[in-house]
Amino acid sequence: MADGVPEIVIEHPLIEQIGTGCRIAESVSIWRRGPFNIKDPLIKISDGVILFEHVRLVVSNKTESQFSGIFLGNRVIVNVGSFLSGEGGLYIEDDTLIGPHVRILTAGHSVEMGHESILHNDLTYGSVRIGQGAWLGAGCTILQGRNIGRGAVVGAGSVVTENVPPFAVVAGNPAKIIRFRGENKPLARKNPIVVLIQQLRSRIHQMTRQN
Ligand SMILES: CC(C)(COP(=O)(O)OP(=O)(O)OC[C@H]1O[C@@H](n2cnc3c(N)ncnc32)[C@H](O)[C@@H]1OP(=O)(O)O)[C@@H](O)C(=O)NCCC(=O)NCCS
Repeated sequence: MADGVPEIVIEHPLIEQIGTGCRIAESVSIWRRGPFNIKDPLIKISDGVILFEHVRLVVSNKTESQFSGIFLGNRVIVNVGSFLSGEGGLYIEDDTLIGPHVRILTAGHSVEMGHESILHNDLTYGSVRIGQGAWLGAGCTILQGRNIGRGAVVGAGSVVTENVPPFAVVAGNPAKIIRFRGENKPLARKNPIVVLIQQLRSRIHQMTRQN
């Protein structure tokens, strides 16, 4: 590894499809409970993806979870130590940034199934989609079944318990919308007064940051 960026790889024994120009650190670990299948891949990585050190990918067998799989779009960057579960299906669209030590969870254990040891209860699954160009800040957690809209930002250390709309900036535990980015589009569908207030807040925020 030169200058802190992993070497380019063209194949990996545990990843069925890798695009061109992908960089995967040697310490990336993969736990797959499903068979390697080129025709029906469990892990598919598009062009220019970077997986930094100690990233962990997990996928299930499709007989346990029919949507199991991890699909990374073009130029997705996953920073050190992040945990990406694709057991319930994980779709990360193009140009998404995943900060260090992020946890994306698509599986869990049934809490109310009856057995007093959680270990003996069934697994539960819920897919996660991260929209194009989103940014997940360091150490945040995305719970199973939640989607992050395109261009959205999740603050460092936040826990996402609800879907995040496109271009929203969310933060905290549970994560709440603190504003929308710039002049952004989803506001047009809202009450015009709310739109005006959000645009003013956004403009004031930008001006105070510049001074
Ligand atoms: C979410 C983030 C982008 C927001 O930045 P910003 O728009 O400049 O926001 P501000 O610093 O003006 O904060 C706005 C409000 O949100 C709160 N807030 C910001 N980030 C927060 C976070 N991660 N968790 C909880 N609250 C947060 C602030 O306390 C502030 O609250 P207030 O209005 O009650 O005072 C930024 O705080 C962040 O978390 N960035 C991630 C950095 C990172 O992970 N880097 C790793 C590199 S990949």
